[in-house]
Amino acid sequence: MKLAIALPHSSYKVTIENGVLGRAGHHLRRLFGNQSGSGRRIFIVTVAPVRKRWGKKLTASLAAAGFSSTTIEMPDGERYKKLATIEDLADKLVTAGADRSSIVVAFGGGIVGDVAGMLASLYMRGVTLVQIPTTVLAQLDASVGGKTGVNLSVGKNLLGTFYHPRAVLVDPELLSTLPQREFRAGMYEAVKCGIIGDPKLFRIFESTPPDSLRPDAETMETVIYRSLALKARVVSADEREAGLRQTLNFGHTIGHALEAETEYRHFLHGEAVAWGMIAATHIAIESGRLKRETCARITEAILKVGPLPKVRVSASKIFKLIKNDKKSVRGVARFVLPVKVGEVKIVDDVPELAIKNALDHLRRLSLKPRVSQP
Ligand SMILES: NC(=O)c1ccc[n+]([C@@H]2O[C@H](COP(=O)([O-])OP(=O)(O)OC[C@H]3O[C@@H](n4cnc5c(N)ncnc54)[C@H](O)[C@@H]3O)[C@@H](O)[C@H]2O)c1
Ligand SMILES: [Zn+2]
Repeated sequence: MKLAIALPHSSYKVTIENGVLGRAGHHLRRLFGNQSGSGRRIFIVTVAPVRKRWGKKLTASLAAAGFSSTTIEMPDGERYKKLATIEDLADKLVTAGADRSSIVVAFGGGIVGDVAGMLASLYMRGVTLVQIPTTVLAQLDASVGGKTGVNLSVGKNLLGTFYHPRAVLVDPELLSTLPQREFRAGMYEAVKCGIIGDPKLFRIFESTPPDSLRPDAETMETVIYRSLALKARVVSADEREAGLRQTLNFGHTIGHALEAETEYRHFLHGEAVAWGMIAATHIAIESGRLKRETCARITEAILKVGPLPKVRVSASKIFKLIKNDKKSVRGVARFVLPVKVGEVKIVDDVPELAIKNALDHLRRLSLKPRVSQP
């Protein structure tokens, strides 16, 4: 399946196909082959777990298409998503002889995508970027939209650029080696896309037992395609987050606060977003914007994806975190609330009591056995 991402001054294609990693060389040759001869070199930025499992397949495919490639590794983990890593990678690029015609391939999860994307945007004032995402989160969310960035010690994603790739190659087969918890965490972002704008996608989660999704390559292609298509529609309409793009933050207001309050150790991002979506859905019903029956459908579809780590947080700390969130405007928290399956509304007058009640609701749900992580 192919998806075209239209931007105001350019466009690029996302190819979603099982096995496309083995055809990466062929795809890049078609894209770049005739532009400046065959001299363009490829620099693959990746992490050890991805290189060990899939590195050879990529380099073999590039070599078969006549590309010379160099693999550059960064250390694995969110704590290395920082400016020092970019500087270190840039040094390595210089040493390896990368020039302005070089192509940077971001080959990994969202962290590699964000870091290598920012690196490509800065190196020699910008070199060509290709994304080959390897986690669910990166495949159906992070690799498209053009946001790159790193964390500062005072907060996440505070330093970054907008920089779009020239191509995105999505191979769902790569997900076969992903830890199960990482797999599920990424799926919550797909459920999110269903709720904010794609009822058909939402129904896939309602009707499919979650464990059958992973081995079902065809459905995975569809889930990734529909999630990206939703994001692409939103991003094309609103590249810099003025309005519509904010709907993608459904579940993220409380989700980010839960992550920060537990120092990013207790929840994976998608898991925190899952709780954030349940909380926002609760707020929507309390403020009379949502039918009880739809609330139950949404909550059920989210909880069905798998067990979630328990919520045990203090409401007052969560308030503070929400107010300090960079998406808050002058200390007023902005919420994306569902009004029906496939439609959300941006609201900034949610009373503190409604937030507190929603957190109580999460704590109550956490007591149910199926919620806690084994
Ligand atoms: N730019 C955006 O629009 C955007 C959107 C959402 C999230 N993000 C960012 O993405 C990051 C999280 O990304 P993530 O969840 O992909 O985490 P990640 O990049 O840390 O990957 C998770 C783990 O899986 C491993 N891994 C990756 N692919 C694998 C594979 N195929 N097989 C086995 N192991 C594999 C990685 O080495 C890592 O240990 C966060 O920093 C977040 O801020 C960015
Ligand atoms: Zn997210």
